Amino acid sequence: MKQLLLLNGPNLNRLGKREPGIYGSRTLQDIEQTVSDLVQTYGYKMDAFQSNHEGELIDRIHEADGVYEGIIFNPGAYTHTSVALRDAISSIEVPVIEVHLSNVHSREEFRHTSMLAPVCKGQIVGLGDQGYKLAALALLPEKV
Ligand code: DQA
Repeated sequence: MKQLLLLNGPNLNRLGKREPGIYGSRTLQDIEQTVSDLVQTYGYKMDAFQSNHEGELIDRIHEADGVYEGIIFNPGAYTHTSVALRDAISSIEVPVIEVHLSNVHSREEFRHTSMLAPVCKGQIVGLGDQGYKLAALALLPEKV
C-alpha cells in the first residue's frame, strides 16, 4: 500500500496546550488521526513521527527515501535555523511539503525565513490544522 509520512518537529507535541490562540486547541494526536483518516479514504496509509531532536528528524527523512510517496513536514522552529534538515531533504527523492499552522509571515521577523522551503515541493502557512490535510491531498496528485 502506498504511504505518506507526517513529520512534526520541536514543541509540536505540545499542541492543544501550547499558545492555543496561535496554534489552535487540537492536539497533535487529533491532527494525526484526521490526516490518517483522510489519506485512508484514498487508499493510502500514513505514518506519523514527532521529535524535539534535529538528528532524529534527519534520520527519519533519510529512512523515508524509497518508502513514502511524500512527506508532510512541520519543522517547527528548525524551519528558521536548520541547514542540516535542508540538506537531509535535498538528499532524498521523496517530495516534502512544509506546513505551518500559523501565518509565519505575520509574526516575528525571524519566522519569515525558511531554510527548508527552497528544497521543498511547496509550503502551506497560516491555515491551521487544515494545512496538513491540504498538504496530504497535494501529495496525491492523481487523486485530487
Ligand atoms: C510553526 C511556526 C514556527 O515558527 C514555530 O517555531 C513553531 C510552529 C507553525 O506551525 O506555525 O514551532 O512551525
